Amino acid sequence: MAALLEQLLSLATAGTMIISSSLFAAAPHNDVNGLLFLQNRQWRVSRYYEPDTIKAQVPGQLQDMRADAAAALEEMFAACKEDAGVTLKAVSGYRSYQRQATIYSNKVDSTGSKKKADEYVARPGASEHQLGLAMDVGQKSKENLSASFGRTKGGKWVAEHCWEYGFILRYQEGWEDVTGYKFEPWHVRYVGKENARLIHEANIPLETYLLMLRQETLIDIVLGQEENAE
Ligand code: DAL
Ligand code: ZN
Repeated sequence: MAALLEQLLSLATAGTMIISSSLFAAAPHNDVNGLLFLQNRQWRVSRYYEPDTIKAQVPGQLQDMRADAAAALEEMFAACKEDAGVTLKAVSGYRSYQRQATIYSNKVDSTGSKKKADEYVARPGASEHQLGLAMDVGQKSKENLSASFGRTKGGKWVAEHCWEYGFILRYQEGWEDVTGYKFEPWHVRYVGKENARLIHEANIPLETYLLMLRQETLIDIVLGQEENAE
């Protein structure tokens, strides 16, 4: 009887391990300090999360980003200047939870409704700016954070080349149902060069890319289990 109980217990433990590792793989990338952490309307971070940031050495204001993202931003801005002769500027990088709360509440006041504010502004805890991996990019002496940035020489250059420096244009036209936001030609998110290349080639939102990675991981787990069983 004791042996049977022991056997049942070890089977249950093995089952739990398979299920929990599958669930882990099926969850969004959950290392908040990793490059692929998903922060959107559904997946938010704690009000206490604060990454280590440094000031990117680029023109503009609010240049704070995580060190790897800041270095990539410097590289991208220098390349834009060299390739297109355009000086880009930082408009808004890292934002604390509190700052995002203020921005959201100001937007609700200026637009008159949460529904309108939600079209462009993330609620506190839902903004990638809190990760220190996002930057709103502008062009010197042009209007900031407006659709017109996408029509400037600098905006077009960023859309075409940002992936080469590890950034993705996070909120694109036609992706609103997936990303939850309207087209923002100014908002770039750092994911590292390899991810950015794959995302650019597939031309998909980050949410879809992460779903594909999770599916691949799940398939690997299942195939691994089958191999172990042989
Ligand atoms: N504008 C983007 C969605 C943000 O507020 O983070
Ligand atoms: Zn932004």
